[in-house]
Amino acid sequence: MLVLTGAGVSAESGVPTFRGGGGTSVWKGMPFYVISSAEMLERDLKEVWAWFDYRREIIEKLVPNAAHIALAGWHDRFDDFTLVTQNIDGLHARAGSRNVIELHGNIRRARCMHCSTRYELGEQDEKERPPACLECGGALRPDVVLFGEMLPAGAFETAAAKAQSCELCFVVGTSALVYPAAALPEIARSSGAYVVEVNPERTPLSDLCDEVIQGRAGEVLPMFDKDSINESKI
Ligand code: APR
Repeated sequence: MLVLTGAGVSAESGVPTFRGGGGTSVWKGMPFYVISSAEMLERDLKEVWAWFDYRREIIEKLVPNAAHIALAGWHDRFDDFTLVTQNIDGLHARAGSRNVIELHGNIRRARCMHCSTRYELGEQDEKERPPACLECGGALRPDVVLFGEMLPAGAFETAAAKAQSCELCFVVGTSALVYPAAALPEIARSSGAYVVEVNPERTPLSDLCDEVIQGRAGEVLPMFDKDSINESKI
């Protein structure tokens, strides 16, 4: 079983989504895809840090919701369970999920732009922006995937292999607009899996799904347990 999640799974915790609900997330007049871009990293690293410091401050005050908690329980209930997320908020792990494949990185980590050493934020001078690498003195950047950048090595390949072999794939709280993440349910479907979408709104993926549940993840996911999932699949 493979589950792919997006910003919508954290919406009920209070994490602002990027799209959906007709709006687009904007920072100091810049749409998120401008401030969260490789081009902005080149041009103004300090501003990129300011954006992610702002997002982290929001996230650190929040707690996992019923959807995160339900998915954490699925690890023990379903054989060969894989949780893949586009979220950088770390809320799945805080809810108890293990081995989460974080396709877009994690907002609590930083990485040296020179020697690629990774840090949990807090391991170096909190105030300094950009923080300096303790290994080589290079500038650190948020360890997240920005628009125009490649995903962390191996993360997508591991997830795609799981999508190819899974029998059941849930897609929860994503607008399914950003690739390669949005390709995972397509891979699962074309490999014969039963695909279920959970989202209050239809997405470009909905027509491809075997089941579309238009609802909020925190209300829908807790309703599923092993038996109800098996029944719905037969
Ligand atoms: N439960 C389920 N889905 C929800 C909920 C909810 N309570 N609230 C909103 N949604 C849905 C919206 O309808 C929308 O389709 O979640 C989706 C959120 O879409 P986006 O904001 O586009 O987030 P996501 O799909 O994760 O974006 C992908 O784009 O911005 C980049 O790197 C960023 O990882 C992100 C990627």
